[in-house]
Amino acid sequence: MQATTTGSNRTGAATAAQRVREMLDANERWAPKTLPDTSLAEADRSLYIADSDAIGSIPPPATIQGVLKTGIHKLMGERPEMLMDKIGERIAFERSGTRLYDALIVKYRTLVDAGGDAALPLAEDSNADVLAALQEIRLEEHEHFLMLCEVMRSMGGDPTAQTPCAAVIATASMGLMQVVTDPRTTFAQSLNAMLTAELTDNAGWELLITMAQDAGENDMAERFEAALADEERHLATVRAWVQALALASKATTAA
Ligand SMILES: [Fe+2]
Ligand SMILES: [Fe+2]
Repeated sequence: MQATTTGSNRTGAATAAQRVREMLDANERWAPKTLPDTSLAEADRSLYIADSDAIGSIPPPATIQGVLKTGIHKLMGERPEMLMDKIGERIAFERSGTRLYDALIVKYRTLVDAGGDAALPLAEDSNADVLAALQEIRLEEHEHFLMLCEVMRSMGGDPTAQTPCAAVIATASMGLMQVVTDPRTTFAQSLNAMLTAELTDNAGWELLITMAQDAGENDMAERFEAALADEERHLATVRAWVQALALASKATTAA
């Protein structure tokens, strides 16, 4: 795999100054004098928004215990289905997170086997340290996924169901997997995608803790807080690695 180097990139306008002048001349001559009216396109979009169905629904509790539990909360004016929707979202994200780290570990191992310095140096860490840290984070993402599934079942929900927020986060984070599994991306580029994932992870757990506390589910909130503590470590590690690789003196091989 090639590291990030200077090459024959011709995507910028500066590579064709004469053509740019011609384009600007044509623009001067033919471009409309007033800003284009986009109101028809906007009206069309509004029509679809107004007419569309919801992106999904939250399945009804699958067990009697769950019916009772969610029923009690409903009487108290809570909305356990909102909490279930967000737990469904985190289930989807932690499952994807596990797979993202699986893919990142394959990338890292391959680069190290191919000669080492394409993926390193990460501060004072050895290859073995980096690999061990990646595997530990991967394990924790998976543990979070399993814990969330258990919580979902305890609420009478089905952890395999795709809730609306789970569907939305899956769409929003599709690019992350594409970056990490693209064979051309460097370890540093892949880590940058992981930084996005970990930032989202942290915000997601913070929200879930607040929602669990708000629903009076204190035991649940405590379990979520333990997961957030893990996520804070993930974020610190990934952020430090991204910085170390970006600042590495051997920039052409490390970045
Ligand atoms: Fe996570
Ligand atoms: Fe994480």
